[in-house]
Amino acid sequence: MYLTTAEEQILSGENGEVMERMFRLLVSLGEIYGADKMIPVGSAQVAGVSYKSIGMPGVEFLEDYANKGAVAKIVTFLNPAGMDIEDWEELKIPPCFAQNQLRIMNAFKKMGIVVSATCTPYLAGNLPRFGEHIAWSESSAISFSNSVIGARTNREGGPSALAASLCGVTPNYGLHLDDNRKPSLLIDVNAKLDDNADFGALGYIVGKKVKNNIPYFTGIKDADTDQLKALGASMAASGAVALYHIENLTPEARYMKPEGLEKLTVTDKDLEDTFSSLSTGKEPDIVILGCPHSSLKEIMTISRKLEGKKLKKPLWVCTSRMVKEASNRMGFTQTIEAAGGRIIADTCMVVSPIEDMGYKVTAVNSGKAANYLPGFCKQNVVFAKLDTLLEKVT
Ligand code: F3S
Repeated sequence: MYLTTAEEQILSGENGEVMERMFRLLVSLGEIYGADKMIPVGSAQVAGVSYKSIGMPGVEFLEDYANKGAVAKIVTFLNPAGMDIEDWEELKIPPCFAQNQLRIMNAFKKMGIVVSATCTPYLAGNLPRFGEHIAWSESSAISFSNSVIGARTNREGGPSALAASLCGVTPNYGLHLDDNRKPSLLIDVNAKLDDNADFGALGYIVGKKVKNNIPYFTGIKDADTDQLKALGASMAASGAVALYHIENLTPEARYMKPEGLEKLTVTDKDLEDTFSSLSTGKEPDIVILGCPHSSLKEIMTISRKLEGKKLKKPLWVCTSRMVKEASNRMGFTQTIEAAGGRIIADTCMVVSPIEDMGYKVTAVNSGKAANYLPGFCKQNVVFAKLDTLLEKVT
């Protein structure tokens, strides 16, 4: 792998111990995957932020790096944390968990990393351009940036995204290269997709089938930003899919020739079967929306549906701090709160400790959350469309 003189100097420790270790990690990855050189990246997004995921070793590792003067070279956002950084007391997050989570956020802040804590950085102030090389590590954000925006990122882990943030480069391999962005399976959608949850169910089916490969969809006539984020998140969770193309919708589809590919057809019956197979519970203890983090449009929709209603069960809407601010300003937050719900920023149902808060059955409209909640949070799940969920609790 070719390294510039300046890069060789980092490797020999001339820029300090932290830079040497981080750069060595990138070089090792590049050697394993056959990269020819390092390429500059426009932004990074670092996962492994929740205290629930990284525990005390993670806290100590980050504080050590921050104290040794590590500083982000490029704009870097964070994945969701284990709690709402401002309202954690009111939400009854255990104080010991909260203290450690705040230590993590402070260490990242000291490194100059934006303590954004969202899986939808592209809706919250970190929007890459078409063709831009980036190093992101949250699977749904990777899928969205590669597929819907046409930016280029591999599926980074938390450490490699942090290394890219501190060094400003990433090894040139995988999805950074044209040849590796071609589809390998044709998915013909012969089903009605009229709710965001339908896209989550579709993503779950396709992810299971495609596994790590790149699908090319036909038959999806239209889809908005929220539906594409639901589709990508679900496929990333069930099949580690980092890139997809949709005929006439996503930007790189026009350059692809999906000829001679194996074809899979998805029908209404497949979607129905997925809603029932992912639903392991019946009566929810809580409804949690916003996986991936809700857009302002999704919050507006929920707020309008809840106007003048009273909730019988808790309802959380997860989003970024930035979108919550806009929701406050528009009065959507107040309408949802008047019904008895909450807008929760900085965290989500999977990375917060909901299993320690007494919840056993969680209702969601997200294919990714429905897939993850049993394993990550010991929850039974009700997976359904938004209107069905709201009917259950109003
Ligand atoms: Fe985001 Fe949490 Fe879902 S990180 S994609 S809301 S599991």
